[in-house]
Amino acid sequence: MTSPWSVRAESPDDIAAVHAIHAAAFPTEEEADLVDALRADPAWIPELSRVAVDADGRIVAHCLLTRCHIDDVPALCLAPVATAPEQQRTGAGSAAIESCLAEAAKLGERYVVVLGHHDYYPRFGFQRAADHGVRISIDVPAEALMVLALPDAGPIPAGLIHYAPPFGI
Ligand SMILES: CC(C)(COP(=O)(O)OP(=O)(O)OC[C@H]1O[C@@H](n2cnc3c(N)ncnc32)[C@H](O)[C@@H]1OP(=O)(O)O)[C@@H](O)C(=O)NCCC(=O)NCCS
Repeated sequence: MTSPWSVRAESPDDIAAVHAIHAAAFPTEEEADLVDALRADPAWIPELSRVAVDADGRIVAHCLLTRCHIDDVPALCLAPVATAPEQQRTGAGSAAIESCLAEAAKLGERYVVVLGHHDYYPRFGFQRAADHGVRISIDVPAEALMVLALPDAGPIPAGLIHYAPPFGI
């Protein structure tokens, strides 16, 4: 089935709407503020902040990939992702994530890490990070930390994930 959502890179006019989507989808504004802090950080890659829009151009979901490292190997961190509450479970989040991952592959990126719902991200190809020796410096449930190798990336490197400073990890 064709997705009713189209996905494109964020533009400066989208900043307020992106903030509002995260503020509405999460219990607090922490994730909305995190996106704004990441936008001012060198980890930000403009093409990898992507919005899913409806037929009228309204933003319904946002997905962000920013620079991180697995030990010294450049990778991307998928976070945060949010869909407007009234549009959840309609495929918008998946469309945004798939577009982000495809764009990252086009840019020659190789690895993506995510900390999140272990029953959501495997559908995009994410695997348990622990099975690849990929670690995080804070205590999290092992199944919540996942890693993905983009096409032609080669084997996932083992190591500790170093996040951009706004994550505070
Ligand atoms: C998680 C989230 C981004 C998913 O986006 P979405 O647009 O609702 O998801 P999609 O419509 O593309 O996909 C729907 C699928 O995701 C699953 N899903 C949605 N939210 C989920 C959750 N919290 N945990 C596990 N699975 C979830 C649904 O069960 C559905 O699965 P199915 O296709 O097997 O029926 C969205 O629900 C959201 O914004 N949640 C609040 C913020 C959040 O938790 N962000 C992620 C932090 S890791």
